[in-house]
This record gives sequence, C-alpha cells and structure tokens, in this order.
Amino acid sequence: MKRTHYCGAVKVSDIGTTVNVCGWVHARRDHGGVVFIDLRDREGIVQVVFHPENKDIFSVAEKLRSEFVVEIVGIVRQRPAGTENPHMLTGQVEVVSDAITIINSAPGLPFEISDFSDVSEDIRLKYRYLDLRKPKIMKHFLVRHKLLQATRKHLDAQGFIEVETPMLGKTTPEGAREFIVPSRLNEGHFFALPQSPQIYKQILMVAGFDKYFQIVRCFRDEDLRADRQPEFTQIDLELSFVDEQDVMKATEEMVATLLKEVFERDVVTPFPRLSYAEAMLRYGSDKPDTRFALEIVDLSADVASCGFKVFAEAVAKGGVVRGLRVPAGGVFSRSEIDGLTAFVGQYGARGLAWMKVTDKGLESNIVKFFSPAELSVIQTKMVAGVGDLLLFLADTPKVAAEGLGALRMKIARQLNLIDATKFNFLWVVDFPLVEWDADEKRWNAMHHPFTSPKTEDLALLNDPSSPAAGNIRARAYDIVLNGVELGGGSIRIHQQDIQKKMFAFLNIGEVESQEKFGYLLEALSFGAPPHGGIALGFDRFCALLMGEESIREVIAFPKTQKAACPLTNAPGVVSERQLKELGIKLKETAQPQ
Ligand code: AMO
Ligand code: AMP
Repeated sequence: MKRTHYCGAVKVSDIGTTVNVCGWVHARRDHGGVVFIDLRDREGIVQVVFHPENKDIFSVAEKLRSEFVVEIVGIVRQRPAGTENPHMLTGQVEVVSDAITIINSAPGLPFEISDFSDVSEDIRLKYRYLDLRKPKIMKHFLVRHKLLQATRKHLDAQGFIEVETPMLGKTTPEGAREFIVPSRLNEGHFFALPQSPQIYKQILMVAGFDKYFQIVRCFRDEDLRADRQPEFTQIDLELSFVDEQDVMKATEEMVATLLKEVFERDVVTPFPRLSYAEAMLRYGSDKPDTRFALEIVDLSADVASCGFKVFAEAVAKGGVVRGLRVPAGGVFSRSEIDGLTAFVGQYGARGLAWMKVTDKGLESNIVKFFSPAELSVIQTKMVAGVGDLLLFLADTPKVAAEGLGALRMKIARQLNLIDATKFNFLWVVDFPLVEWDADEKRWNAMHHPFTSPKTEDLALLNDPSSPAAGNIRARAYDIVLNGVELGGGSIRIHQQDIQKKMFAFLNIGEVESQEKFGYLLEALSFGAPPHGGIALGFDRFCALLMGEESIREVIAFPKTQKAACPLTNAPGVVSERQLKELGIKLKETAQPQ
C-alpha cells in the first residue's frame, strides 16, 4: 500500500473511500473501549478510530504512544453528529482503521508537540526536529517556502537575473565584525564570510548584468537580539541606470506581489516617505512604527524663555525640549513616572518632566515656572485633553529623540495602542551620509562607504573637518515595516574619483583602501554604469508577516543568544592536525574546556 493522502488533507469528499495515511501519533484517547488517535503530518491532523471488535488492530492501537510513526489504512466517514470539530480542517471526518503498521517508536518526549508547550529555548533548539513538528512552527516554514518561490517568480518576471556570489571572500564593509575562515593553501591568510554581497553585486553591474537578485545568506558577528542572527538571509537586488525612485518602486512592487500572492492581502503603494530628520523629530526613531499616532511634539521655541531653568538652559545650549502625550496617563502614580524617568535614563536623559491635565488646567511640580500663555501653548500643541499625562525631555536632539522614541513605543505597548493586524510600510529617505564617531574622532558611513552623496552636497566631501559634513545627505533609503528596519539600500558611487574621495573622507587611507577595495576602484574605472539597489532582511520579513517577535521562529536551525547551536553543539573544537595544517596555534588561554 502507498500513502494516498496527507493527514491534513482528508476531506468530506473522501467519505466512503479507503485512504492510506502516514504520520506521527499526536494524541491518543481511550473512550469507553474505543481508541481515538490524532494522526499528524506536515499538512495537519486527522482523527483515526479503532473499534474493539477488530481485535488485532485494537491491540496494536493500545500500544501507541505519542510520536510513534504509523501507517494506517481505513475508510473515511462522517463524524457522528455532535462530535464534529469546527476548529480542525478535517473536523467533519474520521478514518476508521482497517489496518495499522507501527513503523517506528519514540521514547518519552522532552516536551509536548504543541503550539502551547512552554520550554526553554535551549531545549527547543536541542530537539529542534521535535520543535519543528509543532503545527504552528511547521506552518511558518511552509509559508516561508511560498514567499521564497513567489520572490523568485516575481523577480524573474521583472527581468532580474539570479547570480550566486562567493561565501569565501574578502572583507565587506557593513560595519559588523566578520567571521573569518583560515585558508589552508595560503597559510596565514583568511577569507571573510560576506556580511552582504555588496561589492560583488556592484561588480555585476559593471559587468553589464543590469538587474541582479540573490536570496543570499549573510554573516555578521554582532551581538544578537530578537531580530538579529549571526547568519541570516537577504533578498538582495541591484539595478543599473536607475535612481532612488526606480529602486523603491521595484521594491514596492515585489513586496505588494508577495503579500497578495502568499497572504491575499492588498497593500497600498507607493508607501509613505519620511525624511530621516522628520522621522527623528516626530517619532524619535529612524524606523518609526506608525500603527499608532502618539507623535512627539517639539516645544523648544515655545519654552525657550520660560522660567523653568532645565528647559530654558537646554534650548540656550542648542538643545531641544520635546514632549509626548500619554492618553489618559493622568492616573500614573509618582512611582510609575519615576519608572519612566529611569527608562529614559538608559538613553542618556537626565530627567523627565511631567504635567497632568486636569479640569483646572495643567498640574505638576513645575507648572509654577511657566506663564499661563506658555502652559496654554503646551496644552494646545500637544492636543492634550483632561486626564492626559504630558512628558517632556530637555536635552540634545539625539537624546531627546531616542529617549522619547523609546518611551513612545513603551507607552503604546503598555496602553495597548498597537493594532497588530496592520502592515504599515514606509520609506525613510534623506539619511545623513556619515555620522561622527566621537571615540575614534572620525566620520563613519551611515549606510556603507559605497553610498552616493546627493549631487548638490558633493562639494562638502572635500572637507571632512567642516562640521557641515554632518549635513551631507545620502542617496539612501530604508524600508520600514511596523517599526522594524526591513531593508536598506542606496544609489552607489559609480565614479572612481568620487569613491576615492569618499574613502579619504572616512579616513580610510590610500594603502588601506587599495588593500581592501582596490579591485572595486579598478572595476569602477572600466566603464561602471550608474547603479543602485537594496537588501531586505528576509527573516525579519517572514517574522513580521507571521506575527512572530523573534526571527528564530522562522529560521529552521537558528543560533542561541550566545551564537551557538544546541542541536549540533557548533561551534566545536578542531583537531591538532587541522590546526597544524592551517598553521594556527591556539593561545594557552584559548584552549577549549
Ligand atoms: P543592511 O546592512 O542594511 O544593508 O542590511 C539589509 C537588511 O538585512 C537585515 N539584517 C539582518 N537580519 C537578521 N540578522 C542580522 N544580523 C541582520 N543584519 C541585517 C535587516 C537589514 O535592513 N548591502 C546592503 C544593502 C544595499 O545597500 O543594497 C546591506 O546589507 O533587515
Ligand atoms: P529638578 O530641577 O532636578 O528638581 O527637576 C525637576 C523636574 O525636571 C524633575 O521632574 C526632573 O525629572 C525634570 N528634569 C530634570 N532634568 C530634565 C531634563 N533634562 N529634561 C526633562 N526633565 C528634566
């Protein structure tokens, strides 16, 4: 006999026919002499019934335990009235078993195969093959697969060529620490695993490929968070003879197609566009979550000459005063406000001023320092109603934005203001080209060093010592979904002289730039077309679309927070011989335990 149906695919139209289903025993129930099992495979669960009259089969059924692998032949029938299960796809039917073979057994399980089982991540990852059997997780991978196929189909139809680029390469400049791989044949030399295929895809444009894509693994040795893994997947695009609008449009079309094809959801394009400056001002973040309002309000000009020294002095020093309204936050206690003060302290804020809106006006420990006119402007600008709480930060623009931005998210979560069913896409544009690294006393590329400055800001590249250099805008764009940076890209520098100038600006000397990126500089000299592209974090995209907080839920074999794999115990030690062949000697202190 051969399998005829997936368990999850036995339908009402199969009633009366004989089916052969194979799978895992999800649950077994004894009901007054009748044994029921839920048989599970990747497509779902079907109920199988064993009647005691059929003694041979029944005695086998009694031996079944969770996660035994069985093959069952039986007749599909309508479930008796009153026993249907509307929550199951196969809830109208059951298979009455005629024959059963136990193919494999399983011992007691480390955890239940259930979407609700609650075990530590280490245990889940150690037994990932059991964890992946959970219906919800299994479904993630079926959907991820569909997204991958739909991406390929769409990009192929748009004329993109899929090209694979090396995993063993040279240093790449996305700003994280690299994973390096020793070369046996070139002792003392190391490959770097790609942080992204950035330079290769630019070189493919020089080669004339015109439109490239790759669904590609990238490697970054950085501190891990819920949305960061040491290896992750990008949908990576590069196009020639394009500007920002073209790349953004191509991305929007791809995203809209994927949502339509895989989730039957319509999204409105073009996505809203916000400048970096506006995003930081209104949302305190370069990846604003716009599923709720709660915008930050700048009050610097209104309180510049108020009697509250903290505010007036901040503005006098070139800082800002900004406020956030907490709807109905008037009920917050002093200790709750102290908690919020400590929270913004993590972002460098030295305090958090507050006012409560009552029917008698604004009330707090500091209102006495403000004139009635000033209080009235504050209340009007913040659209504050009775019962609201107003919070204020006086600080540098950076601290005020980051502190209030984080507070905005915290309050929205606490007050349940976020509509989880929304998909809010937007673009952040007009990023600064560089940011000042106060420790190293140099400019760093905000995106990467191949991003083109805006043409009108090009002249500023000549003078890194000018503070105006911080105002150079990049031809870069980030796509944001629900407050998460989904992807980023830019129009690149395609002229060798400007690329050289950019390296110099970033304090990457002639020797270093030749050693690291000489091959790109040379390629640019041989007729490079104008080009630009983008990369979307595919794991983040999957997690957001499936409503998961962590990208580990949509990666088959993710690493733990400590970048280890509990299933395989990677990273592991290597033999003396391997090390010798590579010409590597471990330090006494680096000897594995
Ligand atoms: P960037 O460095 O912004 O751009 O990366 C693009 C996107 O990749 C995702 N991402 C990650 N996902 C999971 N774990 C990580 N550790 C991780 N790091 C990044 C994010 C991010 O937005 N070469 C450029 C793209 C370009 O210019 O075309 C690049 O890699 O979603
Ligand atoms: P103080 O003058 O230190 O007693 O502070 C009075 C109020 O102002 C307190 O609620 C402080 O939390 C708040 N405060 C102090 N520094 C700042 C600041 N930089 N921004 C906003 N509020 C502040």
